[in-house]
This record gives sequence, C-alpha cells and structure tokens, in this order.
Amino acid sequence: MGTEELGHLEMIASIVHQLTRKMSDQDIISSGLDTYFVDHTAGVYPQFASGTPWTAATIAVKGDVITDLTEDMAAEQKARTTYDNILRMSDDPDVNNVIRFLREREVVHFQRFGEALRLATEKMDQKNMYIVNPAFDSSAANKSTQNSAQVKIRRYN
Ligand SMILES: [Fe+2]
Repeated sequence: MGTEELGHLEMIASIVHQLTRKMSDQDIISSGLDTYFVDHTAGVYPQFASGTPWTAATIAVKGDVITDLTEDMAAEQKARTTYDNILRMSDDPDVNNVIRFLREREVVHFQRFGEALRLATEKMDQKNMYIVNPAFDSSAANKSTQNSAQVKIRRYN
C-alpha cells in the first residue's frame, strides 16, 4: 500500500503541475496562490491545503499492531474525506475523474487495513481492541485494570 500511496502523490503532483504551469501573474493573484508563488514559484511543494508543509511528523507510529492499524484506517478515512471535499468544490472533470479513482483506492485500503486488524486481533491471546492491547505493554494494561473504577476497559471476545 505504501508504494501505491507514493503513486497517489505522483498523480496529485502531476495534476497540480498541469493546473498551475501556465498561470499568468493575474491568475496567480486572483486564485489566492500569490503567497505560495512567492515561496515556491509554480514548483510542486508538499503541503496541506491550509499551507502547512507536509513532514514525517504527521505520520503516527506506536509499534503496536492494533494501534498502528487503527491509525492507518483513520488515515485512509481522512484521505477519503479530503477527496470528498475536493469533489464538492471542483467542477473540472479531468481532476474529478482522478480524484474519484484515488477516493476508491482509499476505501479499498481502509477495508484491507480492517481485514489486517481483524486477523491480528484473532491471532492474539485475547481479543482485545480499541483501548488496550495486552501484548504491547502488559504493565500498563495491568495498571489500567487495577484502576478499573476510573478506566473502563472494553473487551470484545
Ligand atoms: Fe490509502
């Protein structure tokens, strides 16, 4: 999936390049891309729509299979929502056809991560998900159950 996601980046970057490569000075100003242009000219720079540059700090990893697969599933849903938002605003069929394709792939990724989460959960000694993975940090899990009056652990067996 990681390789496919890099392919998505390439597709989005190509769309941005095609949409911006022939902008006039007036186009740049009227589209609100003037500050972007000052910093990057028409080069494709990875940033959020809000202008925050993309960094590896946006990738969350805990090293626990339940946590990380849940994070992956959330990331796929966030990507799908972003594509939905683009489709709400764009009236360019050449853009929208690509965005719809990418949106479908994110839905498939969500489903595959969901399958992986189910398989990982089934292979664990305890079918425990969402809040505590006892295989990851048993001392923290035990501490949580000792304070069960304050922390309710939901088990799905
Ligand atoms: Fe994805």
